[in-house]
Amino acid sequence: MLLLGCANAAEPTASGELSSSDFTGTDRCIQCHAIIHSQWDGTMHSNAYTDPFYLKEFETASQDTDGLIDSFCSRCHTPIGVVSGEIPPADGSRLSGIAKDGVQCDFCHTVSGSNGTGNAPFIVTPGDTKWGPFNDSRSAYHDSEYLDLHTKSEFCGMCHEVSHPVNGLLIDDTYPVWKNSTYAQEGVTCQDCHMTPGITEFEANPGRSGSGAPKRDHISLHSTVGGNAFVTGILGADDVKKMAIERLEKAATLDMSSPETAHTGEDVTVEVSITNSGAGHNIPTGVSEIRQIWLEVRVTDAGGREIYNAGRTDNKGGIISALKIYNNVLGDDQGDPTLSFWLADRVLSDNRIGPKETVSEEHTFFMPENTVYPVTVDAILKYRSAPQELIDHLFGEGVHEVPVIDMAEISNVIYDPGSPPGSRTESRSSPGFTIFIAVALLLIIYVLKNNKKGG
Ligand code: HEC
Ligand code: HEC
Ligand code: HEC
Ligand code: HEC
Ligand code: HEC
Repeated sequence: MLLLGCANAAEPTASGELSSSDFTGTDRCIQCHAIIHSQWDGTMHSNAYTDPFYLKEFETASQDTDGLIDSFCSRCHTPIGVVSGEIPPADGSRLSGIAKDGVQCDFCHTVSGSNGTGNAPFIVTPGDTKWGPFNDSRSAYHDSEYLDLHTKSEFCGMCHEVSHPVNGLLIDDTYPVWKNSTYAQEGVTCQDCHMTPGITEFEANPGRSGSGAPKRDHISLHSTVGGNAFVTGILGADDVKKMAIERLEKAATLDMSSPETAHTGEDVTVEVSITNSGAGHNIPTGVSEIRQIWLEVRVTDAGGREIYNAGRTDNKGGIISALKIYNNVLGDDQGDPTLSFWLADRVLSDNRIGPKETVSEEHTFFMPENTVYPVTVDAILKYRSAPQELIDHLFGEGVHEVPVIDMAEISNVIYDPGSPPGSRTESRSSPGFTIFIAVALLLIIYVLKNNKKGG
């Protein structure tokens, strides 16, 4: 009987099971948790439904599938809209204001359990009790209860793991990739990087979580930011956009090896490696079939002439001759590539960079006869939330420009073989330098020995 009770309790909250008036609006929470509210406001959680990019894609998906996926998409993007049965219809005409607040306070804090991860298997119990990370919390307004789930990646994994509702294809693997990474083994959670000032690791944020609350060693930040500097920009959430850029700048590191000198009239090869040094999952992740990461490699001589370029963008936002675009390509049932993941049933390719993984690219260019030395090689890692072409297709040409963010940068210099860098006397391997070091070492040993004798 008890087991049966547990099994029943683990059923995810069904569509239409509740009413949106069962939930409390953020205007109530703001009265005491003003700082937390200001952090959440403008994030993609607060805009999970109003996001114009989502709404365009949702509209298309709904048409493509005759409305079959309406509650599926909405369960993550407007969870209150689904559990209250206000969606369908897909046009949002029956949605209450609170449902349009997307992934909001009272939704997350009345999650009382879940049936695992993926495709939003949450159990939500709106009412007086707010579940959270503290086991000794008191509030005059609501009951508080500790729930382990809120402190774990599995909480995020309810929505940050998406499988196709019909064919089961794994579309968003953020949680499963994290789960198989060394971060998970070392106990570094999504919250550690996304809800603390640390960005790539846990960093405490001491303070109070609201008026009348006690001082604590750590209060989680609700500015849960990823790499979205595009939609946050459209919506005027400039602080969130700034944080997204900062986060992208901490995600990866670059290294480059190039010859110190190179003759004109020859092919020169440089190798650039990219390490995912800061993200606990692939870069890119999430809707990674839409995201784009690529390397721009630019070679310029001292006269300012560009000798080589791979990966620049043209005035229409096309990426010109990049060696690779790091993302995954999904295919439809004809095997054709598609950005419409609701139509996908296979993965055609996947070269996203895994947590702590390093990949490299070799770029070869021809050094022209009249090169003015020295020559500079710049490599810049670029990120874009979506191809410009897709956004132009959805919104019309010239309506929204997708910003290209520089994630990391590195430069090397190639010199004229006739006059390599510095003079010979400076070189560490020159005999004069070696003799100098040897004499200095002997002197140190001599002084140390004498000191020992003396003491
Ligand atoms: C995406 C789900 C989500 C949303 C939306 C959300 N929270 Fe939280 N909140 C969490 C999680 C998860 C934690 C605990 C993190 C941890 O400790 O690891 C938390 C912690 C808290 C805490 C405990 C203090 C702290 O910050 O650690 C309070 C209070 C709180 N949230 C209030 C709010 C309010 C008010 C809002 C709306 C403005 C809100 N939350 C929106 C998930 C959410
Ligand atoms: C009258 C003031 C007040 C209002 C209104 C209020 N809270 Fe709180 N809340 C508090 C205080 C005080 C605490 C205790 C914080 C602590 O223990 O550090 C708290 C704690 C919490 C916690 C932590 C619970 C735990 O055990 O970890 C969560 C979650 C939370 N509030 C969510 C909300 C949400 C969501 C709303 C809006 C629906 C809300 N609060 C409205 C005052 C308030
Ligand atoms: C070690 C730190 C770290 C951990 C752990 C981590 N992240 Fe991230 N996350 C980052 C960084 C850095 C970025 C920016 C790079 C990017 O956007 O690809 C990021 C980006 C993201 C994005 C935006 C991706 C995109 O490009 O659209 C999402 C969504 C995300 N994280 C969710 C999660 C979830 C969910 C978890 C836990 C399962 C998690 N993260 C664990 C550091 C981390
Ligand atoms: C109820 C479902 C849900 C839960 C639970 C949830 N998220 Fe999200 N999250 C979303 C949705 C939906 C979006 C994307 C909204 C959009 O871009 O339109 C999002 C966006 C994000 C982003 C921004 C991604 C970007 O590209 O900038 C980050 C980071 C993130 N979530 C992290 C987390 C973390 C960390 C947790 C756990 C503490 C969590 N989320 C829990 C649904 C959820
Ligand atoms: C299980 C939860 C879940 C389901 C179901 C889901 N999404 Fe999402 N969606 C997310 C999360 C989490 C993100 C954020 C990932 C990231 O930032 O890369 C997201 C991001 C997006 C984005 C990118 C938004 C932006 O601003 O860049 C679009 C578009 C989108 N979803 C459309 C859809 C459509 C259409 C469906 C239904 C076919 C759907 N989603 C179903 C969780 C979900």
